[in-house]
Amino acid sequence: MEEAVKLNEAFHSFTRASKSLEVYYEKLSDKVRYLTAEVERKNAQLKELQDHHKRNLRLIAMGEMAASIVHEIRSPLCSIELFSSMLSNDLKGTEHSEMANGISTGIKSLNNILTNMLFFAKPQKPSLKDVHLHNAVEESLKILAPLIDIRGITLSKDVPDEIISGDTELLKQVLMNILLNAVQVMPGGGELKVYTEEGENYFALAVCDEGNGIDIDNMEKMFDPFFSTKDKGTGLGLTIAHKIMQCHNGFIKAERNEDRGSTFRLYFPKKGVADEPGGNKQLKN
Ligand SMILES: Nc1ncnc2c1ncn2[C@@H]1O[C@H](COP(=O)(O)OP(=O)(O)OP(=O)(O)O)[C@@H](O)[C@H]1O
Ligand SMILES: [Mg+2]
Repeated sequence: MEEAVKLNEAFHSFTRASKSLEVYYEKLSDKVRYLTAEVERKNAQLKELQDHHKRNLRLIAMGEMAASIVHEIRSPLCSIELFSSMLSNDLKGTEHSEMANGISTGIKSLNNILTNMLFFAKPQKPSLKDVHLHNAVEESLKILAPLIDIRGITLSKDVPDEIISGDTELLKQVLMNILLNAVQVMPGGGELKVYTEEGENYFALAVCDEGNGIDIDNMEKMFDPFFSTKDKGTGLGLTIAHKIMQCHNGFIKAERNEDRGSTFRLYFPKKGVADEPGGNKQLKN
């Protein structure tokens, strides 16, 4: 009898043990299922990251290829540009003068597109020096002079000789893009105003045109790469201008004028402001 009780107890404890083992087994199975799903998820993430990395490597390689092609095209183009300006000078006052100016202008805007693409493919680091803003504006306007003349645009300038800290070549690239856009929106002529404004910490160069103004929907989009409303625009001009201004601790702002056209303002920190302890490290827009 005693043995039967012991056997019964042993049987019960065996059943209890096997039940708790079953529960434990279920829990373990759940854990294994969870971990298997987690491993699969991590594997998928890893694959995505690897694909992303491969795509980045491809893009870098393509960017380098584009940069070397652009570089190859630019050298002969610079010679063509020089010869066309000489031709343009020689033909001044003759019936072919306008034709030569047209060639010269076309080559200059081609050169500008290539410079933009080169910067986009391989952004340069600015080498900041003292720059006479007035000179940079004059040089950019000189390049665009034939186009301004052909379109019958009147130019009004009020740019004092302010010194800013910048990279002359990159600044000229910004100015070329902004001024070229302004000239392009006035095919039938108008007034192009270039002037400066001064604030406590900044110095702004304003370029004001009398074009059709900026579409309100395009206000932000126009700074995106490849956004263009022009038939032959690459849509890189403003993207690059924005990037270069950032490298100068400045920024760029666009607005529709109340009457007609638009005004683009380039804000530069006043010399010394960016380096002063507690000074504005970066102007905020
Ligand atoms: N002064 C302006 N007035 C009205 N719209 C402008 C002006 N400047 C730029 N935009 C708008 O912003 C768009 C983008 O300008 P962005 O300079 O980046 O490229 P793009 O001029 O179209 O081409 P690219 O400069 O590469 O030749 C233009 O297509 C135009 O729609
Ligand atoms: Mg442009």
